[in-house]
Amino acid sequence: MFLFLILMTGTSLHAIAATDVSLNAVVCAPSSGNINAGDLNIFHSASPPAHDIREIAWLVLGICAAIFVVVEGVLIWSIIRFRKRARDAGEPVQVFGSNPVELAWTVIPTIIVFVLALATLRTIREVELTEAPAGSLNVDVIAHQWWWEYRVPNLEGNGTIVTANELVVPVGRPIWLTLHSADVIHSFWIPQLNGKTDVIPNHVNHTWFQAERAGIFLGQCAEYCGTQHANMLLRVTAVDDAAFKAWCVHQSSAVVSDPAVEQGRNMFLDLACMNCHAIDGVSEGAFGPNLTHIMSRTTIGAGVAPLNPTTLRAWVDDPQNLKVGCNMPSLELDPNQLDAIVAYLLTLK
Ligand code: CUA
Repeated sequence: MFLFLILMTGTSLHAIAATDVSLNAVVCAPSSGNINAGDLNIFHSASPPAHDIREIAWLVLGICAAIFVVVEGVLIWSIIRFRKRARDAGEPVQVFGSNPVELAWTVIPTIIVFVLALATLRTIREVELTEAPAGSLNVDVIAHQWWWEYRVPNLEGNGTIVTANELVVPVGRPIWLTLHSADVIHSFWIPQLNGKTDVIPNHVNHTWFQAERAGIFLGQCAEYCGTQHANMLLRVTAVDDAAFKAWCVHQSSAVVSDPAVEQGRNMFLDLACMNCHAIDGVSEGAFGPNLTHIMSRTTIGAGVAPLNPTTLRAWVDDPQNLKVGCNMPSLELDPNQLDAIVAYLLTLK
């Protein structure tokens, strides 16, 4: 029962994350406009595996509620019916052994456990597919402390689209996810779309979902993975086919190269930025998120804050302000360097 309370109150997690940010840092609005567009309630499922999980959750909740009502009902009835009255004297009649009662409390729980076990096995089989469903889009997910990397096949050309933290998928198409970890154990969980699947170093796991409606679906790393585990948020945007194709075209387009921000680009290359971050055709770092089209995303720091010029500047200045303990250090740039680099990043649409 406690587990269910946790699941049902999960909705508030993102709100908490957003509040922390406003307490911590100076800089950003408490939440972006659409941070509440999705929620973490497993009962608002929008994908086949999430429906299966919701159904078994209701079944278990229903059976447990019935047991609770019967047991507590008998208990309360017994307390009232058999309480000591003024006229009672001495011990009540003692009862030793009863075959019908013994039989009842052995057989009924056995049947209940059997029903739950069969239902659970069926759900596991439906949720944990061993191979990709027909017509699925295969997406590689790489978990890092503390962000998500996605590699999506480019449907509108060759190669792969590499992006971070915000996955865009077509509505109605199965998404087959291959899960890798770059460091420790994480867990991929988008409550409205699928169940939790561990993301394990040196071991590949799979999971899948199929968004049934357009919208934003939020998720949360569900395995404690270090200091910023709580700010390793997932964000899936499901869009129609045309919008997905447009997204592919945009994400695979050549990086913007604006001569007006050349100074910033040179600083990006001269300072440590390029060692960790890839920008197609500019740098090849692989430790941090790919920044080729960073400004096409809506959040920064794996969902820790909405992405806008203010939060971007605060992040580049000192990421520890927004996300204490994250692996990106402050480069202690002077204001001119900071302005130049932020101006450059802002052109990477
Ligand atoms: Cu990654 Cu918790």
